[in-house]
Amino acid sequence: MIKIVPSLLAADFSNLGDQISVAEQGGADWLHLDVMDGHFVPNITFGPPLISAIRKITKLPFDTHLMIEDADRYLESFRSAGSDFITVHYEACTHLNRTINRIKELGAQAGVCINPATPVSVLKEIIRDVDLVLIMTVNPGFGAQSFIPGSSEKIREAADFIKTHKPGVYLEVDGGIDAKTVGEVVAAGANVLVAGNSVFGSSNVSNAIRLLRNKATSVGVG
Ligand code: DX5
Ligand code: ZN
Repeated sequence: MIKIVPSLLAADFSNLGDQISVAEQGGADWLHLDVMDGHFVPNITFGPPLISAIRKITKLPFDTHLMIEDADRYLESFRSAGSDFITVHYEACTHLNRTINRIKELGAQAGVCINPATPVSVLKEIIRDVDLVLIMTVNPGFGAQSFIPGSSEKIREAADFIKTHKPGVYLEVDGGIDAKTVGEVVAAGANVLVAGNSVFGSSNVSNAIRLLRNKATSVGVG
């Protein structure tokens, strides 16, 4: 089953409550929360206080994408704020095995993310410990960037890798996913689709979610 996961980064921050309920009623499966620290990526977004505030207004599973250095210091806060999935970057975690296991000890599902220039092969020693692999299809740091051409080949490689090493792990993609790119990423094997601008940038959030789901399903996987 395909998951459609709007990214809150593209929502109207002056109206978060409404934006989240429109996404929930429009059929979003999870909500993607982009946490940026101004160090690992050149942008700053939000942290645990905002997540715990919005935890009270929605039942959507929270898919927290940590684009931060020193994630270990903050895992407990992100978990207590209500994150269901916590995903960290391979490039930002020196002791990745410890970080992933700590996320699971805290009772969250654990994800590992790789940047566009990082090969799938680096996941070999961590794949058996994770619940989710996130393939960036843009360089992290900003919403509304263009999908990097060629990313689908990497998604296909990740899908094969997961099949060989740990079938059932979610394969999530993030960056530039819209009505034009959704078909190719789903055909390549992605099953969790993050969409910021193409959902919250649309004048009709429910239609945008429906369109992505229909396009994904028409590929014959969803
Ligand atoms: C980028 C973030 C993405 C971003 C995606 O650093 O990780 O989740 O919100 O936004 P769109 O879908 O607009 O490319
Ligand atoms: Zn993200």
